[in-house]
This record gives sequence, structure tokens and C-alpha cells, in this order.
Amino acid sequence: MLGVMPAHAQETVKIGLILPMTGGQASTGRQIDNAVKLYMQQNGDTVAGRKIEIILKDDAAVPDNTKRLAQELIVNDKVSLIAGFGVTPAALAAAPLATQAKIPQIVMAAGTSIITERSPYIVRTSFTLAQSSTIIGDWAAKNGIKKVATLTSDYAPGNDALNFFKQNFTAGGGEIVEEVKVPLQNPDFAPFLQRMKDARPDAMFVFVPAGQGGNFMKQYAERGLDKSGIRVIGPGDVMDDDLLNGMGDAALGTVTAHLYSAAHPSAANREFVAAYKKAFNARPGFMAVGGYDGIRLIYEALKKTGGKTDGDALVEAMKGMKWESPRGPISIDPETRDIVQNIYIRKVERVDGELYNVEFATFEAVKDSGKTRK
Ligand code: PHB
Repeated sequence: MLGVMPAHAQETVKIGLILPMTGGQASTGRQIDNAVKLYMQQNGDTVAGRKIEIILKDDAAVPDNTKRLAQELIVNDKVSLIAGFGVTPAALAAAPLATQAKIPQIVMAAGTSIITERSPYIVRTSFTLAQSSTIIGDWAAKNGIKKVATLTSDYAPGNDALNFFKQNFTAGGGEIVEEVKVPLQNPDFAPFLQRMKDARPDAMFVFVPAGQGGNFMKQYAERGLDKSGIRVIGPGDVMDDDLLNGMGDAALGTVTAHLYSAAHPSAANREFVAAYKKAFNARPGFMAVGGYDGIRLIYEALKKTGGKTDGDALVEAMKGMKWESPRGPISIDPETRDIVQNIYIRKVERVDGELYNVEFATFEAVKDSGKTRK
């Protein structure tokens, strides 16, 4: 029998999945790991005649770990692709290794614009902060918000969020009255929130990475910012569906711009949310969707190459690919290898006793606008 099968058919395709499974970003790792498992349960673990093996490694979102783990996966385990990357510094740390080994690096979580420029082998299924922050900047300026104080996590995606929001909000006539940056690790928001209150803005623009929104909103409510009428706006990371239900009434009415809501009204999303809930007894957030689409991208690319794992062929196969994600229609920009997706403006409402980001406006097929302009 073996003689009639293509030479590579019996070989397993190994995928190194590097995620923060512990530490402050663990909710990102959990969501992506879940989503990859769900996709493989639904679609089988064989594609184009080849068995898929996921090798999961925990980098705790520490870039030195990411680099070491990527190196080990490439050299010892001989993986054909690396994937995951819960934070920007982790994605950047692995980029030179993907280039050197000529294997695809699928970024399923991190969101700083420059990431895809760091290796021709990077393809992204998550998002960029520029995509959502430009849109909420325009929306705020057009919707009676004149003065904004900003609170952003002090690292690359926070700076992208801040700069792209500012660019569009001030171009629309808005004014920034206070700017604070909070540390990425275990931030205590309280002293910063007092400064926000004193600045008396109409709204505060907030970017904290997935996993921190619950703690942020707790301190926001404890300091009475909800009562003083300072509303939260931002990219949707702070209102992650993963944590939203635990935030309570302080979150009601919050308007954010983002790629995904668990309440996205499509059949594909309803099925995804139901299957994820059934499998993991939890609501999927936007990180889960980045993982679900990332593994799907790998499956589809392998189908196109007939199971060949040559890195250049896989990346070529991924360029221009389009499909319907639980988040809506998406594609991979063939020039930048970055995701093109709808960005929705949403408002937190109580639906059937639970809090959801209810989408009320759609910006279609948004490309990343944050690449280095040449
Ligand atoms: C990132 O580090 O790029 C990052 C992490 C979590 C987010 C957004 C961006 O929610």
C-alpha cells in the first residue's frame, strides 16, 4: 500500500503553537488553544493526506522564551510552521527565526502594524490596532465627543492605538486633554484613573490588552468614573467578550470599534459561539477568532499545495485567500500578508440577561493603515 501513496503522505505536518498559557496574558493563550482544538475537532486532524500535529508551548508572553521555544521547535521538532504569538514583543522575537528557517509564522493575536514587515514569512489573522483606533477616532469626533483623556498600555500596540486614535480624532476637531501610559505587567489603574477624573474629559480612550479589561472596569467603577459621566471608548480589547459578562452595569453603553463580537449576527458566528460554548463552557472572544481563522488558513494553504510544506509555497498559497469567518468576511492582503476585515462599532447592551457588544455600524474590508509609508 505504501508504494502508491505520495512520498510525503505518511509524514506528519508539525505546527509549533507558541502562546501565553500562564501569566497576565493567559486568557489569550487559552482562547487560541481552545479555538485551534475546536477547529480540528470539526474538520479532522488530516488535511491533503497529511496528519496535523500541534506542539503547544507556553512562552508566558516573555519574548526571550518565545525566541528559545521557536528555535527548539524549528531545530529539534522540525516544525513546518510556527503560530500563535499572544503579544507583539513575542511575534517580533520569532520573526528572524521564521525568515532564517523559511517557514510561515502565523500571527493569531498580536496587533502592532509593523509586525508583518519584520519577515516575508509572517501572515496575520488577528488585527491591527490601527484598524479599530482610526475608526473610533472618527466616530468620537462626529458624535459630540470634544475632549478626550487617553489611557493606554505602555508598549507597541498601545502606542499604535494612541497614535492612530489621536490622528483621526484631532483631524475631526477633537482635543486630547490628558495622556497617561500604564505599565503592561500587573497594572494598578487607580492613580491613573484619578488623573482622568481630574481632567474632566467627555470620554476616556482606553487600550489595554485582552485579559486586562475586567480589572480595568472594576477600578473604573470603584473610582466612580461611570457616575461622573466619563465614558470609555476605544478599540474593543477592553470590552473582550471573554470578560464582558463579569464587568457589570459599569460597562453598559460603552462604545468601541472592533473586529469581533460574540453577538455578531451571522449563521457562521452563531454556530461558532454555540460549538465553543459546548466544548469549553465559555464565550469566545476576539482572540479565539484569530486562532480559529489562523488554523483554517493553515489547512486551506496545505490543501492548495497538495500537502507540501515548502514555506514559500505555503505563504504564496495564503496570499489573497478569502473566507467567511465568525467575525464576517475576511481576506489576506496579498501585498502585506496582513488581514483585511470589517470593523464594527458596537455598544454594550444587556441581551437576554447577558452583556454583549451589539454591533450598530460596519466599515467593510478595512486594511491596515499603519504600515511604514515608503
Ligand atoms: C499585542 O501585544 O500586540 C496585543 C495583545 C493583546 C491585545 C492587542 C494587542 O488585545
